[in-house]
Amino acid sequence: MRGEGEYEGVQARYYNEYFSGVPGDLEFYLEVAASAGKGGVLELGSGTGRILLPLAISGVPVVGLERSPEMLRLARRNLKAAQAESQQRVELVRGDMREFSLGRQFSLIIAPYRTFQHLLSPVDQRGALRCIREHLEPGGLFVFNVFDPLRDLADRAWSDDRELRKDLEFEDPKTGEVVEVWYRRDYDLIHQLLQQELIFRRLAEGGGEVSSVPTRLVLRYAGRFEMEHLLEAENLRVRTLYGGFRGEPYAGYGEQVWTVERPLLD
Ligand SMILES: C[S@@+](CC[C@H](N)C(=O)[O-])C[C@H]1O[C@@H](n2cnc3c(N)ncnc32)[C@H](O)[C@@H]1O
Repeated sequence: MRGEGEYEGVQARYYNEYFSGVPGDLEFYLEVAASAGKGGVLELGSGTGRILLPLAISGVPVVGLERSPEMLRLARRNLKAAQAESQQRVELVRGDMREFSLGRQFSLIIAPYRTFQHLLSPVDQRGALRCIREHLEPGGLFVFNVFDPLRDLADRAWSDDRELRKDLEFEDPKTGEVVEVWYRRDYDLIHQLLQQELIFRRLAEGGGEVSSVPTRLVLRYAGRFEMEHLLEAENLRVRTLYGGFRGEPYAGYGEQVWTVERPLLD
């Protein structure tokens, strides 16, 4: 399948409409950031600013590191609508979380909305964790959310259902046209990859198709114990693991909300 890349084209254009976050995540990060130290916040994969902008508006200085030029452009556009003093609290940097060096440390680093899962191999995961640790003050926190599809995988073991399904539809904010998003999931079990095919179909008023753009989104998943080992291997200490943003217990699969700490003493 040919199509547009991740977080460019239609995935960037319809980010706000389609990628709406995990329930409760914004409130959670606002709360964590409010009680963080004075060293500021770094958001990895800051996207269009869905979390970054409310953080800045709440008074927290925040640096956003983002790989996609289109997402950065959208974040800058959204930032312009904010008050000048909120704008001054934001710094946007184009970079790659697998390898970055900002020359400073933060009290809090966050990677909301499964951004860590864009690290597609253990080498990339370790590289990112090493950089994260270097950019945290001693005692600083790394807070992030991922999910493991172990339950979905178990269910699928008994079925050969690989249908393309309609996920949802929304209105194109510029043209008013209806946009349908269709998806199909597949797993690469050897590399622990969830490969999602996402098709964005724009429809004219009478229902006829104006365009249909195939895209892909690949995420790596890791179970709880693998993640714990990864974090410990980079000398990051696990403080809490929850199964959601409202403090739900981790079920053994599904959402994982991690809070980990760079120890005060190395
Ligand atoms: C699911 S979005 C999350 C965006 C935003 N944090 C939010 O919560 O809405 C993941 C973001 O991570 C970015 N990203 C993916 N891999 C990256 C990498 N290696 N370095 C920096 N950003 C990356 C993507 O371009 C995308 O904007």
